[in-house]
Amino acid sequence: MANLTLLPRRLSLLLPALLLAGSSLVAGDPAKDLPKFDGDIQKYWTNACARCHGVNGNGRDNNGTPLPDAGFDFTDSRKANRKKDADWVKITLQGKDKMPAFKDKMTEADAQRFVTEILRKFAARH
Ligand code: HEC
Repeated sequence: MANLTLLPRRLSLLLPALLLAGSSLVAGDPAKDLPKFDGDIQKYWTNACARCHGVNGNGRDNNGTPLPDAGFDFTDSRKANRKKDADWVKITLQGKDKMPAFKDKMTEADAQRFVTEILRKFAARH
């Protein structure tokens, strides 16, 4: 009997804790499931970055449909040319809003390679 009357109080303490744990799981780090960068830059772009930025860097999927978390059109050379390499390296490593941080996946030199060998080339094609 005593247990039954205690139950609701225990639940009311437990519930917020469960909700907190749940929301932190849902909000979790989107880059956490991604592998470490292994030096194959094109492969990593396709596997880890293209899900948001599009294989072609224009924030669209292969059917041309805009991706929900794209954030920036790297093929827009007018806009891209106003951006500094150092800022792109920083955002790649540290993240920004929905852009996940990749500092646990690659070095600063790796991030610079993504800027030079991938991102800058998207704009250069146009
Ligand atoms: C989960 C989706 C997602 C993934 C995965 C992702 N990005 Fe992003 N990225 C974004 C979003 C959203 C923004 C825009 C952030 C903002 O400005 O609020 C962004 C912005 C950027 C920017 C800055 C562009 C600007 O506004 O000047 C760079 C550089 C960048 N991403 C590089 C990368 C690279 C390199 C990878 C893979 C190693 C990657 N991103 C993976 C979502 C993603």
